[in-house]
Amino acid sequence: MARVFVARELPFPALDRLRAEHEVEVWPERLPPPRDRLEDREGLLTLLTDPVDAAVISASPGLRAISNYAVGVDNVDVEAATARGIPVGNTPGVLTESTADLAVALMLALMRRLPEAQAAVRAGEWLTWEPARLLGRDLHRSTVLVVGPGRIGKAVARRVQGFGARVIEAGRGDPLPLAEADVVTLHCPLTDETRGLIGAAELAAMKPDAYLVNTARGPIVDHAALLDALRGGEIAGAALDVTEPEPLPADDPLLDAPNLIVVPHVASATHATRAAMADMAVDNLLAGLRGEPMPHCVNAQALSRR
Ligand code: DGY
Repeated sequence: MARVFVARELPFPALDRLRAEHEVEVWPERLPPPRDRLEDREGLLTLLTDPVDAAVISASPGLRAISNYAVGVDNVDVEAATARGIPVGNTPGVLTESTADLAVALMLALMRRLPEAQAAVRAGEWLTWEPARLLGRDLHRSTVLVVGPGRIGKAVARRVQGFGARVIEAGRGDPLPLAEADVVTLHCPLTDETRGLIGAAELAAMKPDAYLVNTARGPIVDHAALLDALRGGEIAGAALDVTEPEPLPADDPLLDAPNLIVVPHVASATHATRAAMADMAVDNLLAGLRGEPMPHCVNAQALSRR
């Protein structure tokens, strides 16, 4: 029986399987646990808001498995874990389609001006049917640049092609044909290479009637540059499911930018997807604690370091 810490209540049956084999402590609060609560455990099930850095790892001499309840593992120091022979699990695949759905929902909301349209109705500004009011742009006539055509990027590409859009893909190290795109949608992981990938120069290279959608990780976009680009009309609008920092403070100047939609990192937030992520995270942790290969591991080489 290992001492396992689960960094938030997961309201799904998967945790019962963990409890059946191990001594499990679940952090009961809504906000993340203080970092010292992660220390000195044998197994960790963490969220993307819990930093499992080198200090946490070295303060946990008995740590044998880290399972992240996310596909992204930028909150975990994977190198430090690997050096100690600790496998790190993640949840790829099960959230692909839900995340792609949200990316397309954000594109449509931006292009068809849904927040503005709803606000107008509630403000009593729906006076009559008007030929030139709240005109937007068509997804079906547009060119969508998918930055990071991995599992999620490809799922977005399939969807927008279904709408009749043209897709261009830009993979790791490829030039970004920003001037060709009506929509730029980000699906790359956060790495040293992608941090700040979309900055002032990239926003200036986009068409003034183009839109930016980020459902990947906040720091991939330079927010100060985005604020300037939106205020200056360099791009037509942006939609962010992810921000830097997260949560974005209610008084962050970005929230006053025109033509901006921000939602609180909800791309995978459907009942079925979050339950599937919980199953996968528990399967990873159980396997890691048994010393078996995790079904989904980002550092399979860790086991050979033991
Ligand atoms: C992930 O799993 O990395 C997502 O950002 C969660 O929605």
